[in-house]
Amino acid sequence: MARRATERPHTRRDLPAWPTDGLSYGGDYNPEQWSPEVWREDVRLMREAGVNIVTLGVFSWGLLEPREGEYDWAWFDEIIALLHDAGIAVDLATPTAAPPSWLLHAHPEVLPVDAHGEREVPGGRLGWCASSPVFREHALRITTALAERYGDHPAVRLWHVSNELGGGNGRCYCDVSAARFREWLRAEYGTVEAINAAWGTAFWGHTFADIEHIEPPRGDKHKANPGMFLAFERFSSDELLEHYLAEAAVLRERSAVPVTTNFMVGSGGHVVDYSDWAGHVDVVANDHYTIVDDRVREQDLAFAADRMRGLTRAREPWLLMEHSTGAPSWQQRNRAKAPGEILRNALAHVARGSDGAMFFQWRASTAGTEQFHSAMLPHAGTESRVWREVVELGSALRRLAGIAGAPVEPAKVALLVDEESAWALQQGLKPHRALRYAHETRLWHRVFWQRQVLVDVLPVDADLDGYDLVVLPTLLVVSDAQAARVDAFVRGGGTVLATYLSGIVDETSRVRGGGYPGAFRDLLGVTTEEFRPLQADETVLLSDGGRVTDWSEDTNLHGAEAVVTYADGDSAGRAAVTRNAVGDGAAWYVSAQLPLDSATRVADRLISELGLPRAVEAGTGIEAVRRNTADGDVLFLINHSDADETVAVSGRSLLDDATFDGAALVPAGRVVVLRESAAE
Ligand code: GAL
Repeated sequence: MARRATERPHTRRDLPAWPTDGLSYGGDYNPEQWSPEVWREDVRLMREAGVNIVTLGVFSWGLLEPREGEYDWAWFDEIIALLHDAGIAVDLATPTAAPPSWLLHAHPEVLPVDAHGEREVPGGRLGWCASSPVFREHALRITTALAERYGDHPAVRLWHVSNELGGGNGRCYCDVSAARFREWLRAEYGTVEAINAAWGTAFWGHTFADIEHIEPPRGDKHKANPGMFLAFERFSSDELLEHYLAEAAVLRERSAVPVTTNFMVGSGGHVVDYSDWAGHVDVVANDHYTIVDDRVREQDLAFAADRMRGLTRAREPWLLMEHSTGAPSWQQRNRAKAPGEILRNALAHVARGSDGAMFFQWRASTAGTEQFHSAMLPHAGTESRVWREVVELGSALRRLAGIAGAPVEPAKVALLVDEESAWALQQGLKPHRALRYAHETRLWHRVFWQRQVLVDVLPVDADLDGYDLVVLPTLLVVSDAQAARVDAFVRGGGTVLATYLSGIVDETSRVRGGGYPGAFRDLLGVTTEEFRPLQADETVLLSDGGRVTDWSEDTNLHGAEAVVTYADGDSAGRAAVTRNAVGDGAAWYVSAQLPLDSATRVADRLISELGLPRAVEAGTGIEAVRRNTADGDVLFLINHSDADETVAVSGRSLLDDATFDGAALVPAGRVVVLRESAAE
């Protein structure tokens, strides 16, 4: 059986010093695009905005090492000194996201190759293969030189390994990668017989006579053997992690400064398995960009933040490393932020445990691919709404400095996410290829988010102790050990809610025998005899009045009771939502892709039956979260709606010193943060 990469011992250091006093505020700073006069203006304006840290060097390799082994530190020394004199800390990036032209010219073989055999051209980002020994050697040389020069510089408070590893080089199908993949397979499975058995290669006559005959799943990913596909996804994540670890080791040998790398958890893809990575960074950090056509983008901020907190497991602070002050430029039609949205979005992350809010980037570039990307200092300069809101956010974060390090209140609901399930769901000749893993995870987070019920978004192997409810949205890939832990949680009095396709395949992507829903069949007290994927224009009516889209199942009850049934179509009369009482616990199954109103009704029943705590009782547009400081609770109230709302709370506003006795007005689109007190 394949080893899960999570078994690798974690390397993070315990409780590193936070890079800044109070909350961190700043962004990517790319001074190489500007003259030294502009640097001085930058530093003055950073101070005006309250910036206390910037990420430096992400794209500087070619300027720091203009020719192989020849360094130019003078300009970097100067800018670091300028920042340090102004009291601004440096989050120093190893510049390996952007290989210099001399390297790509001399060694074009380091460029990644796509699944169709096409080698990437120079000029993009992360243009290197994670398995390339040539790239590794050069990357570790610049990393070593940087660490030796700045490893104990007092300005350097955080190391930022490369940038968004996997964003551009997430998969490489070159021959070097292929050879590394085979090495990885040997370590995972041992023998070719074990691989053949695990992947079921007898199908279509794909039995391998030798591990040497195995190539990465090139070509159409949907035609690949699902077991091989999943193995290659894991390998690719592991291989990028190896690169991160190699750079981190160089830094850690030479510097006591904490090490991080910026994750990419948002509405986008599933590039690497961050649950494996999080144990290797000293500070969990994320880049989050809202997507225009994401109709629930406000909730996506909360989902990503809850995931980051979940990745720290111990609920340590984490860091929002990048987001935007306005429109990015990489979407089809980029959306500017509404007035007030900069503060609202940043504080949504802070409320959920980020000890800071940082942006891409400090000053808007005038040239280069992202010349129209928003920035803290826009092209319009300081006479702009964006700048005024950037200054306002800086001042808000200073006023909130006292919450730094304070944990977010403990959650009673855990939602388990799994990159492997995402990879497996979205590959292969499946009953329904358009199902999106993110749809289901976001839906079941949203129904609690809109009721001000905090959810920890956790890796599948996380400790479930202390939770009342565990939600498994489309947890397709489940090992026996994971299934046993869920089972024990319910038998110990917990409640679990699993949605369609959960438990269907094992960790080699083989369908579990004995009927659906596989690993959870006995626990749920229900079986599915046939999947009924729905066509694009097809819906099915439910007994609660909701309409199912995309997915339904023909279920049979084996001890569970039907909570909601299919009311028309070929599954009419069968259970769509079930509940199985198990001792003091319960196991719910949702066999359909529910509309929001039906999912909300399920969540409301769970909230009331389990007494799940709501931070406040308010309308669906109010987001509410507490952080527990040594001086009492700090409550964040974020109004995402366009109507003012009054919330029944008492305390003193930390943003403007207003006091509330029994009722706080949260104006439309605004944020109130208060230190709570009892009503008089
Ligand atoms: C991020 C990246 C930044 C910048 C930004 C633009 O993914 O790390 O360097 O490109 O996107 O939105």
